[in-house]
Amino acid sequence: MITILNFSQRAEGINDTICADLQAGFTVQGIDTRSIKARDLTIGFCNNCRSCMRAPGDELGECHLGDDMKELLESILESRCLIVSAPINCYDLPSLVRVMLERMSVFCHWPDDKYAPAVRKMPREIKGVLITTSALPGIMVPLVTRARKSFSLFARPLRVTKIDYHHLGFKGRKGDMNYTEKDRRVVRKIISDVSRLYPERS
Ligand SMILES: Cc1cc2nc3c(=O)[nH]c(=O)nc-3n(C[C@H](O)[C@H](O)[C@H](O)COP(=O)(O)O)c2cc1C
Repeated sequence: MITILNFSQRAEGINDTICADLQAGFTVQGIDTRSIKARDLTIGFCNNCRSCMRAPGDELGECHLGDDMKELLESILESRCLIVSAPINCYDLPSLVRVMLERMSVFCHWPDDKYAPAVRKMPREIKGVLITTSALPGIMVPLVTRARKSFSLFARPLRVTKIDYHHLGFKGRKGDMNYTEKDRRVVRKIISDVSRLYPERS
């Protein structure tokens, strides 16, 4: 399975179009794909109670908040590939990524007498793809934003590795907020690259 996680808050914006195109492409390839819009989820703030970090072992800790975070993490962990599509906001990934990062304390075991937590080991590696859209030229994104760093923090406990990055720039002006032929080519390349992870379907 592939999980496509869209962090844009804007309905029918560029990220929605990218994710819809990815979903359609993988469906044509016969690959089971789940598309999730982060804005549709209920994800509360971590309140630092640390109860999810008490139990030892590699099972995810239990969070008492009981919102959509658990199901989201389980969906990603069931996947062979995670594709995140997100706008660059304020030189970083959107703030909801940070809210989720704090909620990923379920991946840690932190006894009261230890200075720092140990990260639970997830059973298998997941291929990662990060797509960003920005007013900045795409080439500038790794240089002047924290997007890759934030994504790697998000990816590490999930065992998302071998990450491909695609930064689609020049989306600042109203007239530029279109899904261009170049963007379409990037999406087609992602579909082709990721589909290779599923040789049993070709
Ligand atoms: C609050 C806000 C902050 C933004 N900050 C940045 C930024 O720091 N750098 C940048 O290149 N673009 C920035 N942008 C432009 C967005 O990245 C762009 O509008 C978005 O990629 C479009 O995606 P969407 O159509 O899915 O909303 C910002 C936009 C908003 C609304």
